[in-house]
Amino acid sequence: MSQKWIEQNKPWIDSTWEKLDKKLSAVAVKSREKIPYTTKDGVHDNMIETRPEWWTNGFWGGMMWLMYLGSGKEEYKKTAQNAEKLMDAAFKNFKVLHHDVGFMWHIMSGASYRITGDTESYNRNLYAAAMLASRYNIDGQYIRAWNVEGSEGWSIIDSMMNIPLLYWASEEIGDDRFKRIAMKHADMAIRDHIRPDGSVNHIVEHDTETDAVIKIHGGQGYDETSCWTRGLAWALYGAVLSYIHTGKKDYLDAAVKTASYFVVNCAATDYLTVVDFKAPPEPVYYDSTAGVIAACGLLEIAKYVSEAEAGVFAGAAVSILKATDREFCNYSDSEDSIVQMGTERYPVNETIPGVHIPIIYGDFFFVEAMLKLKGNGFLIW
Ligand code: GLY
Repeated sequence: MSQKWIEQNKPWIDSTWEKLDKKLSAVAVKSREKIPYTTKDGVHDNMIETRPEWWTNGFWGGMMWLMYLGSGKEEYKKTAQNAEKLMDAAFKNFKVLHHDVGFMWHIMSGASYRITGDTESYNRNLYAAAMLASRYNIDGQYIRAWNVEGSEGWSIIDSMMNIPLLYWASEEIGDDRFKRIAMKHADMAIRDHIRPDGSVNHIVEHDTETDAVIKIHGGQGYDETSCWTRGLAWALYGAVLSYIHTGKKDYLDAAVKTASYFVVNCAATDYLTVVDFKAPPEPVYYDSTAGVIAACGLLEIAKYVSEAEAGVFAGAAVSILKATDREFCNYSDSEDSIVQMGTERYPVNETIPGVHIPIIYGDFFFVEAMLKLKGNGFLIW
């Protein structure tokens, strides 16, 4: 599949990668002692000082590993390894850790172990997997999201991207107990989160003692009937990852269904992704991160479907990435981040912060997608 897309777009792929490497090789050194989330006046902030347990704290180290794989430059490896050590602070407070430990360790320590064979990285990733597995509700058949009182019965679509950590753990230790939890959760997500039209529910509230659904919550989207685009991107990429790790066809079908909904709606705004596909058309709020996450998932899905479908999905991924590069990327050295215009959640009123800002996972998934287009086959998830 993707060979055709790579060949047709080679000049753009090569020049974009060159710009990424030029900028990030400097930022990798400049921000080596930080775990960034966003920037302030162009300078990376540092979450390790304020919230070591923050869910996005693995993306910086993960992105450094991706750049190392794409360039072979030792400076990226040094920063990735340092990020992992800084992140040991997050293991010190079990009670505040949560369902996002896959985002935090699998793409950082998991990548480190798979690339270098480091046994400390291996242990960190297994501890994270054990932590994630311990959040499984046996009767409700879901992995619990968050820790706040009242969220005992909540599952969220985002967790589809955390369960690859469990597949990895089972493969490593030769015992499918982690994988079985992951598959139960994925089956639940297909049943309770993915709607018949291919859009998704962000938060599903379950009865904690049966598998009954009590309520749908809008979460980070416009409302409970709308479709938060980043949630849809987590769904389509997470579903194809479950397919890759298990071979269960239902997961590929779910990926295709959610991806189709994403592609049709994203095309309507020239491949610049808005925050919610079912929100009112005005005001327009963009979320660049949803687009780049989806692009990664679309490129994976394209490997497992017919040639005609692959053309649609890979073509849409390239359109999203080109639109992101053209409209949202900042390659100047006065700004530490690259992808601008990320949005944390649908802003229900003017005072909600986190709208149209650079967010570290926007940069991570843009780099991941470009590395895939460069033909590198390493799957970090
Ligand atoms: N996983 C949280 C988010 O996507 O904002």
